[in-house]
Amino acid sequence: MSHLSAENVSVAFAGLKALSAVDLQIMPGRISGLIGPNGAGKTTLVNVLTGFQTPTEGAVKLDGEALTGLKPHLVRRRGIARTFQGGRLFRDLPVVDNLEVTGVGLGMSRRAAIAEAEAMLDWIGIASLGSRIAGTLPYTDERRVAIGRALMGRPAYILLDEPAAGMSGPESKELSALIRRIATDLGCGVLLIEHNVGLVLGLCEHIVVLDSGAIIEEGSPVSIRGSEKVRHAYMGTTADADLPVLEVME
Ligand SMILES: Nc1ncnc2c1ncn2[C@@H]1O[C@H](COP(=O)(O)OP(=O)(O)OP(=O)(O)O)[C@@H](O)[C@H]1O
Ligand SMILES: [Mg+2]
Repeated sequence: MSHLSAENVSVAFAGLKALSAVDLQIMPGRISGLIGPNGAGKTTLVNVLTGFQTPTEGAVKLDGEALTGLKPHLVRRRGIARTFQGGRLFRDLPVVDNLEVTGVGLGMSRRAAIAEAEAMLDWIGIASLGSRIAGTLPYTDERRVAIGRALMGRPAYILLDEPAAGMSGPESKELSALIRRIATDLGCGVLLIEHNVGLVLGLCEHIVVLDSGAIIEEGSPVSIRGSEKVRHAYMGTTADADLPVLEVME
């Protein structure tokens, strides 16, 4: 069965172990969650999976074949896309051009890239934003454009680094529906990183919890929700009151 995996991945930054022997698998059509407190190593793992960071140890494999050491644009061409925590759009360009540039970078003709960009914006439900200058968009629209850009060329996998950051409840729900459609309608394997744990519990079949670079727990939303280790990592307490951070978002 096809899958994207991190196998025994460790990353050290000048003595700091950002990741220690991490294993993770992402399957087509499924949504997996990656959670953990600030500095746990979540973005570092996405960087490793997408070629932005070479692991100190371990491997990234696509369908069993090693991709470790491939440059980010080549990883992208193999169908592994990502969004960035900070959005990173071309702020001076119109929205549609932001998607077009990625399409051209993937080898499409300009005409094909524009056609796909327009179709993608429409599919996401933001066709009306196409001619807006990206830097003038509200934060939440910027997030959706970044997802659209990542979906150009129909990647097999998409890694979303805190897509709901700064969103209101209703905006997060809308985003949640979009993420579900990415998995079910496009058959994309999704890795969702979020501090909004409720969103992750509501969407993901399988959740991995990182703390200080190591996996401290993994499993179904139910098992993660009941985990003392996870509560500890987030709250630094054993109190088993109903912590809002572990509420499921419908
Ligand atoms: N390029 C780098 N050089 C040195 N240290 C780094 C580098 N990138 C990350 N780190 C450190 O590695 C650790 C993991 O960082 P990372 O950004 O992966 O965490 P995170 O789980 O994504 O956190 P957040 O939830 O705040 O986004 C942190 O201690 C961070 O300071
Ligand atoms: Mg991060």
